[in-house]
Amino acid sequence: MKSIIQTVNLTRKFGDFVANNNISLDIKEGEIRCIVGENGAGKSTLMNMLYGLLAPSSGQILIRGQEVKMNSPLTAIGVGIGMVHQHFKLVSSLTVYENILLGVEIKKKNSLLIDRKEEIKKVAKMIEDNHLQLNPTDKIEDISIGERQRVEILKMLYRNVDILILDEPTAVLTPKEVDDLIATLKLLKKQGKTIIVITHKLREVMELADSITVLKHGNVVGDVLKEDTDEKDIARMMVGRDVCLTVQNDRKHTIEDEIIYQVDNLNVLNDEGKKVINNISFNVHKGEILGIAGVEGNGQSELIKVLTGLMEIESGKVSFCGKDVTNWWPKDLRKKGIGIIPEDRYATGLCKEMSVSDNCIAGYHDNKEILKYGLYNSKKIDEIRDKYIKEFDIRLGDKRGVIGNLSGGNAQKVIIARELASNPKILMACQPTRGVDIGSIEFIHKEILKFRDQGNTVILVSSELSEIMSLSDRVIVMYKGQITGEISPTEVSTVEIGLLMAGIKKEDGNEN
Ligand SMILES: Nc1ncnc2c1ncn2[C@@H]1O[C@H](COP(=O)(O)OP(=O)(O)OP(=O)(O)O)[C@@H](O)[C@H]1O
Ligand SMILES: [Mg+2]
Repeated sequence: MKSIIQTVNLTRKFGDFVANNNISLDIKEGEIRCIVGENGAGKSTLMNMLYGLLAPSSGQILIRGQEVKMNSPLTAIGVGIGMVHQHFKLVSSLTVYENILLGVEIKKKNSLLIDRKEEIKKVAKMIEDNHLQLNPTDKIEDISIGERQRVEILKMLYRNVDILILDEPTAVLTPKEVDDLIATLKLLKKQGKTIIVITHKLREVMELADSITVLKHGNVVGDVLKEDTDEKDIARMMVGRDVCLTVQNDRKHTIEDEIIYQVDNLNVLNDEGKKVINNISFNVHKGEILGIAGVEGNGQSELIKVLTGLMEIESGKVSFCGKDVTNWWPKDLRKKGIGIIPEDRYATGLCKEMSVSDNCIAGYHDNKEILKYGLYNSKKIDEIRDKYIKEFDIRLGDKRGVIGNLSGGNAQKVIIARELASNPKILMACQPTRGVDIGSIEFIHKEILKFRDQGNTVILVSSELSEIMSLSDRVIVMYKGQITGEISPTEVSTVEIGLLMAGIKKEDGNEN
């Protein structure tokens, strides 16, 4: 097979820190290459160089045998490379086809007017040819995350790229959307495209890849064909030791009778006045992990937003340790002993422009230990930062820099370290391992179980059903803003829970 992308000793430094060290890759035309590696290994950095977003410190990039200086994404697109980022770059008030045309329309015509009907037809044909299931005239703000991602893919295809790079495309998708994406990528491969995918999910690697590149500390430590390897092997290459891919939860702890957290008849409306939570009631015992399962978009996100002070309720009551905490602010909830790991780490968990140190104390910044007489003790704050870095193995180029420079998974570890260190009585953990590498998932799961074994309580929301089933003591399932069932994860099969997630109750067997 012919080589389509080659890198020769590609290196990228940030100051003294080497994020990519002499990377030499040889990607063949028409293959799917998966790039794996721990958080901070340098995967996004490498892809950003291929797409012209970052300039290499040294080394070369060859496309179809010719050296190319990637000055910007325009150069990359010009030689046929397209990239889909994890955080989409679409204009939400515009329609699907308008987003596709954005930036190319005027160049294509010799007039300022575009033939709207003709362009919609062309986009519709591309959607059909690639089985992307989109409506060209839908507005971005009205479509799901999975659909938005397909718009990003379409946008690249419209620009005639034949190499597609996707950086953690499945991190934000529901299991069904993941399957759809895998099918799309396989179809694109059939059409002759070359695809590079970064992912932390080894199942996806085994399903998609023709070949796999493993990065560690900025170096290539493995370059293998899929048929020559397996999940365990890849995990070992990534982490440098055997990783336990299943959670060891002995469930020998005591769950006390005491109800520490209670939600009564909760009703919540979204911005458009639509009821997203419909009369929900549940309680959580001291020492228990309560999992909240459901297909994304069935109210779990809103529920956790309400419980963490990010959204107001319409009616109902929330009590914590016997106190009414309905509609309290996050700061007051934290003071009362509620740790919060939010769903969207950049929107509500961190401040990208602030330093790592400041983010390590954010939300707890009026703690007496660090704030005295109106002055911050920066030495103490740096000590806290260093402690988190050490205990949570946070890998970063410059610990004095801003948190926006950390890789996605390492930024997540800062939040988890900060929230657990505050010694909460209850932890609201929303998608705690999203974008986190397998070694760190193992670590975070152990930390959550340790926290519970110390007699604490956890409310866990995750789109990873396996995470919910292996950590939780009890699971409630949500469908269309209501609770459709409550189960014990040791007694119920994944099929049964799948039915509940689809709104089908056990006793009636009918659609709810
Ligand atoms: N602009 C920057 N300034 C300083 N350091 C940076 C910058 N961008 C990335 N780094 C550092 O380079 C290293 C590699 O980051 P990169 O984002 O490539 O990791 P990754 O493999 O994609 O990780 P993840 O799986 O968490 O997304 C990290 O330690 C990160 O902190
Ligand atoms: Mg990354």
